[in-house]
Amino acid sequence: MKLEAMQYQTIQVSPLTPTIGAEIAGVDLAKPLTQQQFEEIHAALIRHLVIFFREQTISTEQHKEFGRRFGKLHIHPTSQMPGHPEVLEIKADENSTWVAGEVWHSDVTCEIEPPMGSILHITKVPDNGGGDTLFANMYRAYELLSDPMRQFLEGKTAMHEGAQVYAGRHGKDPSRQYPVAEHPIVRTHPVSGKKALYVNRNFTTRIVGLNKNESEAVLQMLYQHIERDDLKCRFKWRPGSIAFWDNRCAQHQAMWDYFPQKRYGQRVTIAGDKPY
Ligand code: SIN
Repeated sequence: MKLEAMQYQTIQVSPLTPTIGAEIAGVDLAKPLTQQQFEEIHAALIRHLVIFFREQTISTEQHKEFGRRFGKLHIHPTSQMPGHPEVLEIKADENSTWVAGEVWHSDVTCEIEPPMGSILHITKVPDNGGGDTLFANMYRAYELLSDPMRQFLEGKTAMHEGAQVYAGRHGKDPSRQYPVAEHPIVRTHPVSGKKALYVNRNFTTRIVGLNKNESEAVLQMLYQHIERDDLKCRFKWRPGSIAFWDNRCAQHQAMWDYFPQKRYGQRVTIAGDKPY
C-alpha cells in the first residue's frame, strides 16, 4: 500500500497546516513500538514531513531506541554528547554566543550521505516563551518555481561545506577538516518519489558550473523562495515535546529569541543515503 494512503489505526494525526507538520497522539515513545505503530508513524512522517509528539518522558536510551527503528543512527561530525556519541545536545543559556540551527537548513548536508531524519526531544523551554522551531516544505518550494527556473536547475549540483557552519564555532584550527559534498539542487525523495529543492543557507556555498556572481544571485533567490510563509509551520515546544523531521524534503530554523534564558534538548539523528 502507498504510505500516503495509509489509514491510521493506532495513532491520531492532527495536521498543523495543510502544507507541513502534524501532531501525533496515542503513542508512548518510552515503550517499544509495535510494527503497526512504526508503520503508521513512518507513513505520517512521509505525508506531513515533520511530526510532533507531546508529553513524552523518555530516557536517552529510549530516544536512541526509537530512532533506531527508522535506521542506523548518525554521528555528528563535530558535536557528540559525552557517553552518547549518537546524541547531539541542543542547549542555550546566558553564556551562549550561538545556538544550533539558527539559519534555515537541512541537517549536515555537507556530508556525502546526509541524515535522513532527526528526532529532537526538548526538556527545558525558555521561561517566558520563545524558542519555537519553523519548518518548511521543500516539495512545495520546488513546485512553486516557474517552469523555466525548474528547467534551469535540472541536473545542476551545488557544493555544501561544513566549514561554513562549524569553523567559526570550533576555532580556526587549520588542521581541522570539515565535510564537503556535492549534491543535486533538486533531489528525488527515495520513499515518496517526489522532487524537492535541496540547497540551504547554512551549508550550500556555490552552484557548480556558474561563476561566483551568478551562483550567489541564484542561491539568494532560492533561499528567499524557500522562506516564503506559505511553505511553513511553526512549532511551539513544551517540556517533553518531540519533533521528528524528514531532512530529505524539509528545512528548519530554530528561533533564538529568548537570550539569556535556557533551552535544552537532545537530538538523535538517523543516517541517510546519497541524494539523487
Ligand atoms: C536543530 O536541530 O537544527 C535545532 C532545532 C531546534 O533547536 O529547534
